[in-house]
Amino acid sequence: MTRTTDAPPAPPPRPRRRRRTSLLAATALLAGAVGTGALTQGSATAAEPGCSVDYTVQNEWNNGFTAQVTLTNTGDPVNSWDLEWEFAGGEQVTQGWSAQVSQSGTTVTASNASWNGSLATGGSASFGFNAGSAGSTSVPDEFRMNGVLCDADGQDPDDPDDPDDPDDPGDPDDPPGDRVDNPYAGAQLYVNPDWSAAAQQGGAPSSVYNQPTAVWLDSIGAITGGSAGSNTMGLQDHLDEALAQGADAIQIVTYNLPGRDCAALASNGELGPEEIGRYKNDFIDPINEIVSDPKYADLRIINIVEVDSLPNLITNVGSSPTATPECDEMKANGNYVEGVGYNIGTLGDNDNVYSYIDIGHHGWIGWEDNFQPTADLLFEAANAAGATPQDVAGFAANTANYGATVEPYFDVTDTVNGQPIRANSSWVDWNNYVDELSFAQDFVSEAAVAAGFPEGLGAIIDTSRNGWGGPERPTGPGPTTGTADEYVDASRTDRRIHLGNWCNQAGAGLGERPTAEPEPYIDAYTWVKPPGESDGSSEEIPNDEGKGFDRMCDPTYGGNPQNQNNPSGALPDAPISGHWFQAQFEQLLANAYPPVE
Ligand code: BGC
Repeated sequence: MTRTTDAPPAPPPRPRRRRRTSLLAATALLAGAVGTGALTQGSATAAEPGCSVDYTVQNEWNNGFTAQVTLTNTGDPVNSWDLEWEFAGGEQVTQGWSAQVSQSGTTVTASNASWNGSLATGGSASFGFNAGSAGSTSVPDEFRMNGVLCDADGQDPDDPDDPDDPDDPGDPDDPPGDRVDNPYAGAQLYVNPDWSAAAQQGGAPSSVYNQPTAVWLDSIGAITGGSAGSNTMGLQDHLDEALAQGADAIQIVTYNLPGRDCAALASNGELGPEEIGRYKNDFIDPINEIVSDPKYADLRIINIVEVDSLPNLITNVGSSPTATPECDEMKANGNYVEGVGYNIGTLGDNDNVYSYIDIGHHGWIGWEDNFQPTADLLFEAANAAGATPQDVAGFAANTANYGATVEPYFDVTDTVNGQPIRANSSWVDWNNYVDELSFAQDFVSEAAVAAGFPEGLGAIIDTSRNGWGGPERPTGPGPTTGTADEYVDASRTDRRIHLGNWCNQAGAGLGERPTAEPEPYIDAYTWVKPPGESDGSSEEIPNDEGKGFDRMCDPTYGGNPQNQNNPSGALPDAPISGHWFQAQFEQLLANAYPPVE
């Protein structure tokens, strides 16, 4: 992408400690400074060398893995370092970052990058690598920094409560605070009492109002005082309440970028396009201060990052018919990329934070022209403002949108009378996907990896409002004797007038109830948009939240290039975005799929 301003060079990643993933059987911590009396490189005096290493396998798949290593210099300062270990099981390094990682025979050598060679006493450097393996990998049992052994039998003297410390009798073997591959797996998720009360009052049964939903931090004020509408609790209240519930994980949405919602008006925010400084100092930093309180260390904090922002820079800029001057500006000034990088990089210093970057949905990013460029832009953001790809747990699809998780009665490869529907149905219109599951799976396993992200990441799909049940739901495929349009329109469960419609959609229902690990590459089906909260007002309503009036929320609107000039399909009488919309909630209950019990 083009920037008109020069971004400062990315600072080296902050030191962090990653612990083993649930996939890894062996303990990863090798620590303890042991001086051997050898001379440190480049030193004229007899220096005390020493080092400790935290080696974590973050992701493992059939024939490879990603590891993250933090080297801490516990001896006298060094100006450069080489860290060496042996791979005994046939592992082969394929790619490293934040260090030059090379392998000769079974010996691996990681040499500092230009910016992380100097380590003061107590200073550390983190780097990572991908490696191929013959199916499993174990943690190397010896590391040498500049030829000096980092002893394997000690414990980190600064971290007496280290949960991976086998000598600490207070710690169970794999406590919930450990870094895991999928933060949803086996986790009890936090139920937001604000939303739950509204849902109960709105007529939902307990099978609905006891569901976990995400907490939206949609303004600086929301950090202390609750987000839009009937939400009252600040972030600390939520985290304390999560501990009280005995929850293992809480979902937050960080949603306050400068120039937010550049292609629409309904969720415009409080920060102007240039206010990246306030985003960092007054939004992300205070969130980080709360989140990093050690009392929350065992609570997994799932961070869904800046909905709709980066995808807007792919499709709604330049010569595209859907371009807006606001998106052109956010692309040119670089503040979406910078903000997302700062967000995940800063919060990623906490071992218990899992960030999922928004990827729009299949009806937006599913076209060939948008798919890989989105992954590439996300990778750029994951390397901006101090972030590294290791700060990314995965990707969030369909957030606050209505795309069906699975279209059971037709497929993008179907043909009607020998004609591919992909080319002949106006609903599909050359998209490569007709549902969210196939889109998200390919994004994780293909586009993200091609962009440079490690393999083994996951996606989450927002299923809060993509159920499409009720009397209009088809019960089987449409006829194959007529046109492609007739076939697709009779087969599809998604009853929207046009795939580009996004505001308070008539006919929608609650989708799959939140579920961990429902399908390969999918960390969870989850309710990110709290059902019952409006997407935007159906007419202009003055407010002090920065929210505008977008006519895509007006049922009398005839559309624009975003939806190829179709009616908006929005429900009437809607309040501004984030506020409770009872009529919509009742419809979501009535049209839920699977139905509500
Ligand atoms: C609104 C936010 C709200 C969120 C969840 C967004 O569309 O802009 O204010 O918190 O939806 O309802």
